[in-house]
Order: sequence, then C-alpha cells, then structure tokens
Amino acid sequence: MESRGLLTLAMAAQLVVTAAALFASYAVAGPGFGIAQVAALIATAAVANVLVRLCTRAIEASEHKRAATQSAELAQARSDSAQMMQAVIKTALDAFIQIDDSGAVLEWSFQAEALTGWTRQEALGADAVDLIVAEPLRAAFRQRMARLVPELSDTPSGLRFELNLIHRNGDQILAEASSTVLRLGGRVIVNTFVRDITRKRAAEEQLVQSQKMEAVGQLTGGIAHEFNNMLTVITGTIEILADAVRDNPPLATITKLISEAADRGAALTSSLLSFARKQALQPAEIDVNQLLEELAKLLLATFDKKIEIVTRLDRNVWLAYADRGQLSSALLNLAINARDAMLEGGRLTLTTRNVVFGVREAVAVGAGYAGDYVEIEIADSGTGIPQAILERIFDPFFSTKEVGKGTGLGLSMVFGFVKQSGGGIKVASEEGRGTIFTLYLPKAEMSALRPTGYDDRKIVGGKETVLCVEDDRDVRHYVTVQLEGLGYKVIPAANATEALAIAAEGTPFDLLFTDIVMAGGMNGRELAEQMVAARPSLRVLFTSGYAYDSLHTQGRATMGAPLLRKPYRKAELARMLRRSLDTAVDSAGDAIPTPYSVQADVEAFLRRQAAEDDGTRPRK
Ligand SMILES: Nc1ncnc2c1ncn2[C@@H]1O[C@H](COP(=O)(O)OP(=O)(O)OP(=O)(O)O)[C@@H](O)[C@H]1O
Ligand SMILES: [Mg+2]
Repeated sequence: MESRGLLTLAMAAQLVVTAAALFASYAVAGPGFGIAQVAALIATAAVANVLVRLCTRAIEASEHKRAATQSAELAQARSDSAQMMQAVIKTALDAFIQIDDSGAVLEWSFQAEALTGWTRQEALGADAVDLIVAEPLRAAFRQRMARLVPELSDTPSGLRFELNLIHRNGDQILAEASSTVLRLGGRVIVNTFVRDITRKRAAEEQLVQSQKMEAVGQLTGGIAHEFNNMLTVITGTIEILADAVRDNPPLATITKLISEAADRGAALTSSLLSFARKQALQPAEIDVNQLLEELAKLLLATFDKKIEIVTRLDRNVWLAYADRGQLSSALLNLAINARDAMLEGGRLTLTTRNVVFGVREAVAVGAGYAGDYVEIEIADSGTGIPQAILERIFDPFFSTKEVGKGTGLGLSMVFGFVKQSGGGIKVASEEGRGTIFTLYLPKAEMSALRPTGYDDRKIVGGKETVLCVEDDRDVRHYVTVQLEGLGYKVIPAANATEALAIAAEGTPFDLLFTDIVMAGGMNGRELAEQMVAARPSLRVLFTSGYAYDSLHTQGRATMGAPLLRKPYRKAELARMLRRSLDTAVDSAGDAIPTPYSVQADVEAFLRRQAAEDDGTRPRK
C-alpha cells in the first residue's frame, strides 16, 4: 500500500519535472530541438534517476520494517504457544514425555521426574526406553513402538495403553499412557502422557477380592454354623456311648470312628467359621515371641532336617491382642505350607517386629485401622507361588496339592482369623525364590485378666449350682448330662425369659452358663447383664458357635466373661467352668472377688483410675 502511493507520487513528480523541463526549454530556445531540449531531457532523466533511487530505498526500508514486524509477531506467537504448551504440561496431573522416532527424549516434565526418578537434565537426549523400561522388556518394547508409531501417525486422536515401567530405584510401576504422533518437517515426534495407576489398580483388586471373600464368607459361615450345632450333640454324646459300650469291642470301634469323624467335622467347620470371620474368638494379650519360640521348637522336632529353622525375634516386640489358640494354628498352617514348598530343603525364617501404620499402610494390608501393630513374618525359600494363582490362594478350597494332601482351607482360615482379629495379612512371592507371608496383629492395649488355679490336663468337676440357658433342646439336654456328670447341680432353662423367672423366684445358683445367640427376644448377653445387675457376685460363662464381626463387638458381647466355643468336649467344658468359678487375679496380681463379670471390669477400671490419680502408672 505504502509503496504503491510512493510510486504514484514518484511518477507524478517525474511528470511535473518532465513538463517543467520541456516548458523551460521552450521558453529559453523556442520551438525546435536543440541543445536546450537535450539539456532539459538530461536533467529530467537525472531527476528520474534520483526519484527511482529514493523510491527503491523507501520501498526497501518499508519492506524491511514489515518483515521485521512479521517475524517479531511470529516469534511472539511461537513463544506464546510454547508457554501455553509448558503451562499445559505443568498443569497436567500426568507426566509428559516427548521423544523422537529414535526414542531420544525431547521433553520430560517435572511430573515425569517424580514418576521415574530421572531429572529432566538427565533425561533430555537419553533413550527413553533405557530409562524407564526394565532390561528384559526393552527389546519387545522397542518392537512394539516401531509398529505403533506409523499406525499412530494416522490416528489423530492417539492411543491409550497400559505398560509396565520401572522407577530409577527399581520399583515397578503400572502405568497408563496416552500417545499421539506428530510429523514436523520430516521429523516424527511422539508425545505421551503417562499416569501411575499402581495404587489404583491395587486398591481395585483389593476391593474386588474383599467383596468376593465377603460373599463366600457369608455362605460358608451360615452352613458351618448349622453344622456346629449338630456336631455339638454328636461330639458331646459320643463319649457317653463310648463309656456304655466299653466292654463290646466292635461297638467301641464304631463309636471311635464316629468320634474321629466328628472331630474332623469340627476341625472343618472351625476353619470355615474362621474364614467367614464368625469364629468365636477369645482374644487376649499374647507374647508372640514366646509363641514363635514354641512353634520353632515344634517345627524343629517334626520337620525334615533339610529345613533350617531360623528365628529373628525383636526383643522389644509389643504384646499382641488376638486369640492365642487360633494364632498358633494359623502360624502352624503357614509353616506347613512353607514346608510343603521346600521338599528339597531350605530355610524357614520367623521374624517379629513392631510397626506403626498410617491409613495408607493399614489399607494396603487390609488392617482395621491406622495404629500400632505387631508384625509376624514367615518366610520360606521354597518354590514360590506363580503370579497367576497368587490372588486365589486365600479362597476356601483352593489348593494345588494332590487330592487328599490339602483341603485348601489353611490360608482361608488364616485370612479370616487375621481379619476378624482386626489385623491384616500380606503375601509376597517370587517363583523359584520363596514366599513371605506377613501377619499384622493389633497391639494389646489393656492387660487382660488371667485366671489361676486350673489345670489344662485334669478334668476337675465341682459342686456348685449352674443355671444353664440354651435354646437348642438337644444341646441343652447334652449339657445338663455333662454338667451333672461333673458333679454340678443344674437348673436348665430354654430361654432368657425362663431363666429370669427362675432367678426371680429366688432360686440360688452360682453360675449362669448361657448361649449368646438365642431365639426368642433376649440374647445371652442381655440376660447376663440383667442378672449381674441384680447379683453382682454372679459368675458368667458364655457359649457360642457363631459370633462377632470384630474383637471389639466380641468384647462387648461377652462383657469380658469367658466364652466356650462350640462344639466343645467335656474337658473344655469342665475347664471353663472352673475358670469361671475359681478365684482369679487381675493383671496386677490382686484377687478379684467376682471374676469375669461386669463387676470385675468395673473394679479393675476403678483401680486403674485410682492409680492414675495418685500420679503413679498402673502396674502392667
Ligand atoms: N509358602 C508357600 N509356598 C508356595 N505355595 C504356597 C505357600 N503357601 C500356600 N501356597 C499355595 O497356596 C495354596 C493354598 O494354600 P492353603 O494352605 O490354603 O491350602 P493347602 O495347603 O493346599 O491345603 P490345607 O492347608 O487345607 O491342607 C497351596 O495349595 C499352595 O499352592
Ligand atoms: Mg495349607
């Protein structure tokens, strides 16, 4: 525009100059062609020449200026777009990695630094595959890229895929990536956003797994509960039969067979109930080191000598709060699994230590809450567990052992027990290298009451009067016979209402022995609460085949009173009765007049309070 105006102006000027020159030559020399005209023409040409130069220079200057403005604008636009890109990359939740078709890194966002452990400085120019793909997978990864890049060039929307990456420190990362390919002047550029989904995937898997376990658990728990009641009658009455047919060897053999079958049934239902987290647990403070030392002794005596048994026990380990019997059998189950995985020999290592979990760690192992846990680790150097079956090992009846060698209930039992105890479990295994099972049990917070004066081995009866409340007619009848056999006087009652009526009549009795879950309104716990309120010195013994979701609800369910698990044998019944009736001591060694009742708990609580008020710590 500018140059056209200038040219028009120049032409107009040229015209005026030519006209003026011709006019001047005419005025000086008159018409005709002479020296004056020649001089005028030369002068015009000279002026024209000057004008042309001026114009060219002006045009060149303006062109220059325009080009400079344009390039400044272009540079500005480029820098704006680069800044925009950087802002997008920086704002993205995901890591951004840009490479060329040879795999060399062109861009590496700070999220990529965090994800991989490699700084931008280190990454730029390096081979991306070498940085973030594990050695054995690199060749395959490169092949895959070589195939994908041409495909991607034709897909403007890009491609999403999952891949396994490796952090600089060697940690495995499961990542989700989204890539697009750009052709820029013959160059191929691959832009990729990468997201770490390791935790998300683990959480999803954990959820699916726990939902599955929950569903299977409910089913198994229901069946096992019914079986338990039937077994209580069988295991209980078979001893009476055995006594009666002692002199008839064929019948004695048959009763023995029945008894053994019932025992196997009881063991099975007990594992199933454990798995379903419906086992009637009796948690108490446990010195896990002592338990593991006993276990190590047992294993040393029974396992093949090719298996070395090592203990690494933390001497300062806290007391755990769990059911001792169940914990022993859980550990034994794990040890036997380890032995079965080390048929050629190997090493079994038992370790204890204290751990403090934050929410994330607790969730990762499925533990009940963030806080203090006692960790027990059982590590073997055996065959390891193939990845493909790792998520199924806790399923009930999942076994890779030959028929008859394993029922597949071992780990289900361990899993259910640990979860019901408010703890967690974790497994790590590598094929050919070995397996590590890690249990987490809640740290014991309070000192439990410990009875004295009963002996595990002897059956000791008594002369006290027992009010026996049981809604199942057969079980009630059996218990009555058993109790009378032990020398006790028995007042049977079919439910809570009947029991309260008996108490209201003023009938004297020393112990309330009641089922917890009973049909017909009031349950055993409510019954015991009412009775203890009226007779503070009353002793209580609960029984149940079915139970509680967590140890906290169980604690409430039994008010701290002992609990006899169904099905039980005469010896266990006898022992628990004495345990309930005999004088007990609290953790400080003081005698408690009304052991295992609400009264005892209240007294212990008051004593602790008093001790604290005195400024002294209660004795532990
Ligand atoms: N330490 C281990 N090493 C290798 N594999 C194991 C280990 N522990 C468990 N497994 C695998 O998990 C499966 C399930 O174990 P689980 O204890 O539940 O059942 P089981 O041992 O087969 O039978 P059961 O314990 O009922 O006799 C086993 O069959 C085995 O394949
Ligand atoms: Mg097993």
